[in-house]
Amino acid sequence: GTPAATSAGNDAANTNSSVSSEAEHVRIFDTTLRDGEQSPGASMTFEEKLQVAELLDEMGVDIIEAGFPIASNGDFESVQEIARRSKNSVIAGLSRAAFKDIDRCGEAVKPAGQPRIHTFISTSPIHMKFKLQLEPDEVLQHVSESVARARNWVDDVEWSAEDGTRTEFEFLCRCVEAAIKAGATTINIPDTVGYTTPLEYRELFIKVRETVPNADKAVFSVHCHNDLGLAVANSLAGVAGGARQIECTINGLGERAGNAALEEIVMAIRTRHDVLPYTTSIKPQFLMRASKLVGAVTNFPVQYNKAIVGKNAFAHESGIHQDGMLKNAETYEIMKPEDVGVKATSLVMGKHSGRHAFREKLSDLGFELGDNAFADAFRRFKDLADRKKNVYDEDIEALVEDEISTRGD
Ligand code: KIV
Ligand code: ZN
Repeated sequence: GTPAATSAGNDAANTNSSVSSEAEHVRIFDTTLRDGEQSPGASMTFEEKLQVAELLDEMGVDIIEAGFPIASNGDFESVQEIARRSKNSVIAGLSRAAFKDIDRCGEAVKPAGQPRIHTFISTSPIHMKFKLQLEPDEVLQHVSESVARARNWVDDVEWSAEDGTRTEFEFLCRCVEAAIKAGATTINIPDTVGYTTPLEYRELFIKVRETVPNADKAVFSVHCHNDLGLAVANSLAGVAGGARQIECTINGLGERAGNAALEEIVMAIRTRHDVLPYTTSIKPQFLMRASKLVGAVTNFPVQYNKAIVGKNAFAHESGIHQDGMLKNAETYEIMKPEDVGVKATSLVMGKHSGRHAFREKLSDLGFELGDNAFADAFRRFKDLADRKKNVYDEDIEALVEDEISTRGD
């Protein structure tokens, strides 16, 4: 069945849907442990990586990119141990086009039930000239040789065109064709520098898949960075263009402004299934736990207003919103907090809160006040909220107890 059926906003949306119910599966490729860990300051210990990988596996991630084995002995060992312990997920390691990288990666992922080698090389003019100092024909040769080398280790080989969105179209197509011919089963076209826009990225996938012979032999993949805040939108646009794998990270962790956030992609697909007719294998109830774990082990706090997993993602302060929420949660919530593993909506008491929410809060705290006492207490609460940034339950309790004792009720 469609997992989206449990999401609050979805039932109504489906009623109006004209999209076929033949939802296509999109693979979720999590790179928190590789691209995410490349965030300055986000490195994780061996034990922490195993903990994150275990949760990702249980959560339903199709492919876990566990690390970059050539980068260090520590990376090699953690990829190898994650490969040994994997239960359901494909375990991928990253490697450049060099044979020593690929062989080290092959060795690391070998113990996995489903191992994958992910090999990449830059294809854009600026990267080829300044970073690689290679001519396009040399790069093309590396593509074929690296993929073929990886295929000696595993059947599941992913090839990425680094800086793909700034690559000349004809050359990109030649590289993709060479990678498929050499045996790549997944073709990733990353937006390495977060430069593309949704319509452009969608068009790119449509055109590459139309142009390259045997494109249907590979699964196409999106990999978006968030430099312009477009990573999730671009990822979904790439899927609209025919990609069926999304590379993303928990909390959008990653180089510079980060990668596309896994939790946002998964919940967008579930909540707007009417216009995003895809399914993923992710169990969304794990999203909050995964966010908290990754936040804790990397020491990267999640911004309060972060979609899906931020502290305020299901919190309401304004009186108008709180009143609506108390009448029907769907007035201001398009997802149910419990669907993503958040215990409950929180009505935050502050100067914008109204009578309805205040009465509800008193009742939660076990107070029943008569009309006059309630009116007085509400006035005092508003005065307090004007003076104090955060009004906690204890503040309200103290205020009401004082109200009761001065009234002698
Ligand atoms: O952003 C990027 O291009 C990458 C590749 C290594 C896939 O992370
Ligand atoms: Zn990346």
